[in-house]
Amino acid sequence: MRSFTYRSRCSGEVRVLVNYPHADELSKLIDKYTGCIMITPSSVSSLVSFNKCPRIIIKDGEEGKDIETVLDIIKKSIGNSLDRGGVMIGIGGGSTLDITGFTAAIYMRGVDYVNVPTTTLAMVDAALGGKTGVNAVGLKNVIGVVKQPSEIIVDLTFIKTLPTSNYLDGFSEVLKYGVTMDKGLFNKLSNNVDKVMSKDEGLLEDLIYGSLVNKARVVEADEYDKLGVRIVLNYGHTVGHALESASMFSISHGKAVGLGMVCESSIGVKLGYTASDVPSYLTELLSRLNLIQGIKVNTDSVLRAIAGDKKKSGDFLNLPMVTEIGDWIKVKIKVSEYLRLVRDSCTYLA
Ligand SMILES: NC(=O)c1ccc[n+]([C@@H]2O[C@H](COP(=O)([O-])OP(=O)(O)OC[C@H]3O[C@@H](n4cnc5c(N)ncnc54)[C@H](O)[C@@H]3O)[C@@H](O)[C@H]2O)c1
Repeated sequence: MRSFTYRSRCSGEVRVLVNYPHADELSKLIDKYTGCIMITPSSVSSLVSFNKCPRIIIKDGEEGKDIETVLDIIKKSIGNSLDRGGVMIGIGGGSTLDITGFTAAIYMRGVDYVNVPTTTLAMVDAALGGKTGVNAVGLKNVIGVVKQPSEIIVDLTFIKTLPTSNYLDGFSEVLKYGVTMDKGLFNKLSNNVDKVMSKDEGLLEDLIYGSLVNKARVVEADEYDKLGVRIVLNYGHTVGHALESASMFSISHGKAVGLGMVCESSIGVKLGYTASDVPSYLTELLSRLNLIQGIKVNTDSVLRAIAGDKKKSGDFLNLPMVTEIGDWIKVKIKVSEYLRLVRDSCTYLA
């Protein structure tokens, strides 16, 4: 069991608990509030052993992450007399936590919320940082706000029921924190892939704790993504998101980000920012984690998706570039130049 806190400019101190039983911690926490509701998808509901708050069951995964679900949660919260002193508890993967955070941010002009992540990706990434949102008008995360949770409770028992591909997907983000900011974390992952495969509890606690501490440090420095620090969390994601959408989401998020990091590091080598051995280190580790997928994606679709990236600023992209394992810098590149580099550097484009 390990814990830490980080500071939010708007919400104060956020407590992060790693490898704690969710039911015990939630029982203690709800005493502080006038009421509570719990939001969870149907596939996770049977795994939840906490029964002291009314449950709102939402649709699984991305399907439930829309404005209709928000309105449904609001209606049921009113029905359960949740007032401004109440708390919303999200228990699920990243989709559930995103929708819980967004609903909590707007319900009665804002109530507290608590994240209990149940996928690896949500444990190392989505649960912390306060970026909440829902999909609308055919676009992902197009509506959202930044609001930190009051508490994050990581309970490793949820990992047991995750399908292998879903379980491994989250390790791309662990690798991202390691390669950009934390060589020790990179080495811990690299030296213990066998323990990742066997879901070794001690190792998982270390990797999740290390990932969340790194992300919290970035969020404290640039909570609202205005100062150019938080962009480090996008490493591998500019190309990764384009691969996901160009492949009609047939490539998982973890694999797309993994391939994105290999491509972005190859570009970094070409531009002279990145040490020449970084792409091969990444490829080797991703392959041992079964996160390299041997499929080709249409080049034009990928380039079109990058050209439409919402992080673009005029004709330029501000991107994180790894210099050596555990360190990064911010780089500004003309979009047209970046598209040429992607075309020349990403080996999986067809
Ligand atoms: N806010 C952020 O900072 C942030 C960061 C990364 C990703 N995200 C968002 O997270 C979402 C992806 O999250 P995800 O990968 O966790 O997927 P998800 O929430 O879509 O869940 C995937 C599937 O796993 C099931 N599931 C969840 N926990 C389970 C368990 N313990 N056992 C068995 N099945 C379980 C879910 O019901 C669902 O069917 C995306 O919408 C993405 O935009 C947000």
